[in-house]
Amino acid sequence: MSISVRNITKLYGTQRALNEVSFEIGAGEVVGFLGPNGAGKSTMMKILTCFLPPSSGRAVVCGFDTHDQSMDVRRNVGYLPEHNPLYLDLYVREYLEFIAGVHGLPDATKRINTMIDRVGLGPEQHKQIGQLSKGYRQRVGLAQAMIHDPQVLILDEPTSGLDPNQLVEIRGLIKDIGRERTVMLSTHIMQEVEAICDRVIIIDRGDLVADEKASTLRSRQQQQEVVEVEFDRTVNANELLAITGVQHAKHKAGNSWLLAHDASVDVRPAIFQYAVDQGLKVLGMQKSERGLEEVFKELTKR
Ligand SMILES: Nc1ncnc2c1ncn2[C@@H]1O[C@H](COP(=O)(O)OP(=O)(O)O)[C@@H](O)[C@H]1O
Ligand SMILES: [Mg+2]
Repeated sequence: MSISVRNITKLYGTQRALNEVSFEIGAGEVVGFLGPNGAGKSTMMKILTCFLPPSSGRAVVCGFDTHDQSMDVRRNVGYLPEHNPLYLDLYVREYLEFIAGVHGLPDATKRINTMIDRVGLGPEQHKQIGQLSKGYRQRVGLAQAMIHDPQVLILDEPTSGLDPNQLVEIRGLIKDIGRERTVMLSTHIMQEVEAICDRVIIIDRGDLVADEKASTLRSRQQQQEVVEVEFDRTVNANELLAITGVQHAKHKAGNSWLLAHDASVDVRPAIFQYAVDQGLKVLGMQKSERGLEEVFKELTKR
């Protein structure tokens, strides 16, 4: 087990930021840690990386207790904090040399070259960090987090504030990194989880509200699916409701309709048959799946 969290509670004064949270993450898993702002994601990550002690409960990372063996935990964990704090005046290589020094790495230059290669910093490696775009700064943050070759990576909102192109690049990079090690990344973006993670842990106001495979979560509340269909002329709702399996018919626009049906049956053949019987032409037909986004909203709605 890479990460084992047992009944962790964190109080800031009287505020309960985490409430008896428990979960386990196995070696090699890529887990999305999801929750609205203020849910307690960063607090949990700070506890796992030994930056904060919990008020009660216990966390074990790579077999080491965050309280009793914090140096061992730090040796085995790479951390990209929220907002990626960097020294803007330092040059990229200079900064990575500094971090390598903190870790006491023996062959720093070789390791820095490997990291620059790994995160795609090559063309920017001689610049000052302050001159880099946000996407390249995230690459520096990732290089910093991985320089000591940790087994576990903890990334706190690694893609926040990136433009769409940078987003795709950094997500790709994280997915790639996840092939070799355990990754826990926080986000409040559901699509990110769909794009990168095998598993999702959702917290809301300090409580763990879901811990499932991304695919299970997606199907969890999908008893009903929707087919969008467009005909070549006007039809009425009652006719559509007469089609076997169709439970609701909602007019969308023009001659387009949204037809809800039980997820266990495919109503598309029956819709086609109806069209043939009525002498209608089907101009388009498409399943619209309920995304993780809705499941997330449902689990964390106030
Ligand atoms: N150092 C702190 N002192 C007091 N309250 C804090 C501190 N850090 C976080 N909090 C509060 O704890 C809650 C959880 O915060 P955080 O872990 O940063 O959530 P998230 O990362 O999910 O947005 C929030 O209500 C936040 O205001
Ligand atoms: Mg946070």
